[in-house]
Amino acid sequence: MGLDGAYAQLDPLDPPETPTPKRPHRATLFAVPSVLFLLAFLILTLIHPRLRGDAAASAGSCGNSCRIVLVESIPEGMNITSPTNPSTFEAWLELLSSARRSVDIASFYWTLTNEDTRTHEPSAAQGELILSELLRLPRRGVAVRVAVSAPSAKAPLDDLRALERGGAAVRAVDMPRLTGGVLHTKFWLVDGVHLYLGSANMDWRALTQVKELGAAIFNCSCLAEDLGKIFEAYWALGVPDAAIPAPWPDNFSTAINAATPLQLRLNGSAAAVYFSSSPPPLCASGRTPDLSALLSVIDGADRWVDVAVMSYLPGTEFQRPERFWPAIDERLRRAAFERGVRVRVMAGCWPHSRPAMFPFLKSLAAVNDDRARLRVEVRLFLVPASAAQSRIPFARVSHNKFMVTDKAAYVGTSNWSGDYFERTAGSALVVAQAGSGTFRERLQEVFQRDWSSGYSVDIGDTESWAGRCGPR
Ligand SMILES: *[C@@H]1O[C@H](CO)[C@@H](O)[C@H](O)[C@H]1NC(C)=O
Ligand SMILES: *[C@@H]1O[C@H](CO)[C@@H](O)[C@H](O)[C@H]1NC(C)=O
Ligand SMILES: *[C@@H]1O[C@H](CO)[C@@H](O)[C@H](O)[C@H]1NC(C)=O
Ligand SMILES: *[C@@H]1O[C@H](CO)[C@@H](O)[C@H](O)[C@H]1NC(C)=O
Ligand SMILES: *[C@@H]1O[C@H](CO)[C@@H](O)[C@H](O)[C@H]1NC(C)=O
Repeated sequence: MGLDGAYAQLDPLDPPETPTPKRPHRATLFAVPSVLFLLAFLILTLIHPRLRGDAAASAGSCGNSCRIVLVESIPEGMNITSPTNPSTFEAWLELLSSARRSVDIASFYWTLTNEDTRTHEPSAAQGELILSELLRLPRRGVAVRVAVSAPSAKAPLDDLRALERGGAAVRAVDMPRLTGGVLHTKFWLVDGVHLYLGSANMDWRALTQVKELGAAIFNCSCLAEDLGKIFEAYWALGVPDAAIPAPWPDNFSTAINAATPLQLRLNGSAAAVYFSSSPPPLCASGRTPDLSALLSVIDGADRWVDVAVMSYLPGTEFQRPERFWPAIDERLRRAAFERGVRVRVMAGCWPHSRPAMFPFLKSLAAVNDDRARLRVEVRLFLVPASAAQSRIPFARVSHNKFMVTDKAAYVGTSNWSGDYFERTAGSALVVAQAGSGTFRERLQEVFQRDWSSGYSVDIGDTESWAGRCGPR
């Protein structure tokens, strides 16, 4: 079942009982005030030395010890070298072996064994090992909490039941009832000091059969504590009949956001960091909504924006009737047109891709003209599959969800379409960093590696991809 089941969970959205009420566009709602706020803040910090120091000071001693690792899952059989990064599997094992007190996991669905496919797929071994390590934690005195999207009738429950039997606490967050979305976030928190955030689901395929990208951060209580507030929000919503508090109690609020990111050192390099969260009703006071984080990373770019995302659609994917939703697409075109920013978008594609994604990507790619100084390029990233691999359901695709610019790295958990920012719970890590040897630069190298690899094809070269993308 796996991703299959996961996507099936989106079905409740598929036709909504009532049409979505018209309301002012979120993006435009906060764009203007946030620019004004940012300006006011900049002026204030320039003239007010104490304020200027505040965000930096709150990192405390934690701000010097943080280690960040870019981690990836490269599907078996792909020839991807230079740079190579530690695997998601290695990062998860290190997180589990470091755990002394607590492991909290925010997740979409669980299929770490290949029970779901009723095959004996050897590449499921890594997922099975992660599950067995997790099952051992409570016996070692480590408290395990799992927040998971409310399973649909079709979603397998074996892993979750095993975790509960082993002593873990599991709460299903009924996002369909709360916001009309799902809990799509993927992050881990260990002992309140280490964390993982990225595209990988708790699915054996996410370790060996699907291309994934994330960040693991170690020894960094100041960031882990802040991400912990997002976890606590899911946890609070995971009890029967929970309602979304409005406003959220004060202890969920944060001072770490787009306007006042935490100033700290990651691997010794200066960085300004924050976590965003979606949808807006899940954001306590001070939390930057994920869409506004994403847009502000685009707006902040001076020279270039590179995007690698599984699906890209200026519309809603799961709400009916479908709505046009140009928030992100508009901002990329604006960056290219108004500021001469070079934009490159690399989307994932597989037989389940929405057919509407392709014409909109071609439309974006059309904004490219030397004389007009417009530089937008679009490619599709195709994961090859042997005959045996292509029989694995819902695998062999790039599930990446990141962006890197000349100023910042954005590592998220959401597809780039309307539903993910309006209804679905997701989160992102935003790291602004200058200079070389940084996480941002590592991410840029990954993007460039994939962009220039033989696995990516120009969106204009329809013959190379038409047979492999979208329904036949
Ligand atoms: C893998 O890629 C490298 C560099 O792109 C190339 O030199 C090598 O021959 C490839 N190996 C295989 C097995 O395709
Ligand atoms: C955290 O830092 C301590 C002290 O430097 C070190 O011994 C430990 O290995 C680090 N933990 C991880 C998981 O990196
Ligand atoms: C805030 O306090 C409540 C009540 O003690 C608790 O249940 C909740 O987990 C806290 N939230 C955070 C983010 O710590
Ligand atoms: C992302 O987009 C794809 C393609 O539209 C879709 O099938 C999938 O449900 C989305 N969700 C995830 C898990 O990325
Ligand atoms: C940070 O340092 C560790 C070694 O301490 C290394 O493994 C990791 O790749 C570095 N991260 C980045 C983004 O360079």
